Amino acid sequence: MTLFPLLTENPFGLSGLFWREGRFRPGPVRELLHLGDPLGPALARLPEALRDAVPKRQSEYLAGRICASLALRAAGLPEVLGLNGRAPVWPDGAAGSISHSDSRVVAAVSRDHAGLGVDCETVMPEDQARSLAPMILTAAEAALRPGTMSFAGFLTLVFSAKEAVYKAISARHARILEFHDVMLTGISADRLHLAQDAQDFQASFRLDRSEVMTLVLVAP
Ligand SMILES: CC(C)(COP(=O)(O)OP(=O)(O)OC[C@H]1O[C@@H](n2cnc3c(N)ncnc32)[C@H](O)[C@@H]1OP(=O)(O)O)[C@@H](O)C(=O)NCCC(=O)NCCS
Repeated sequence: MTLFPLLTENPFGLSGLFWREGRFRPGPVRELLHLGDPLGPALARLPEALRDAVPKRQSEYLAGRICASLALRAAGLPEVLGLNGRAPVWPDGAAGSISHSDSRVVAAVSRDHAGLGVDCETVMPEDQARSLAPMILTAAEAALRPGTMSFAGFLTLVFSAKEAVYKAISARHARILEFHDVMLTGISADRLHLAQDAQDFQASFRLDRSEVMTLVLVAP
């Protein structure tokens, strides 16, 4: 597995966010990996449950954990990540999140927020977006699509933002949310406005022809 390059600047221009983002190429992985970064090497270990997983799954897991470890180090926090089911458990004082898509991986950490959700996705093909739409969106939400945005780009963006909301609150939320539990209420040039159970969220986003990145921060 290779992980290169490693970016340290978040694409939203937000301060106080410790960000590691890279491109990974799946391949056979060893039990421990050492990869370079301006801050030095990082270590990641495969959990028992992934020992027999396919190389893509092992690679994305390790790439995510390496990025998380480096983001925690940049934040001056212990590089210790627990596991609750599949969810990472961040050290005291940290809110963080991990995401990976076909080849992209990102981890973000903040010391100033109660929750953080990051999500990257590859833009779906148009026919897949059309068939998944009823699961992700209501008609009222679909009507918020800007005329300049393709349906597939819009659907992938809303999918990603709802996943980011879920990641930002899941540690404090007793149940697994459905897509229709989180409502899109508005969209501006670089932000989606969402609501879940009377709480409002904003998802910063970047969308290009092939990829989406969303970020949700929850105030303390
Ligand atoms: C957690 C979940 C959102 C992952 O999203 P995804 O787009 O499939 O995958 P991503 O690559 O973006 O994110 C996966 C990473 O999220 C993290 N993650 C897993 N479960 C998580 C949770 N409950 N809370 C926060 N982060 C979680 C993990 O680090 C995982 O990567 P890893 O297993 O390699 O460590 C999804 O699998 C899930 O559990 N969904 C159920 C709830 C839901 O999605 N509802 C609809 C939106 S409201």
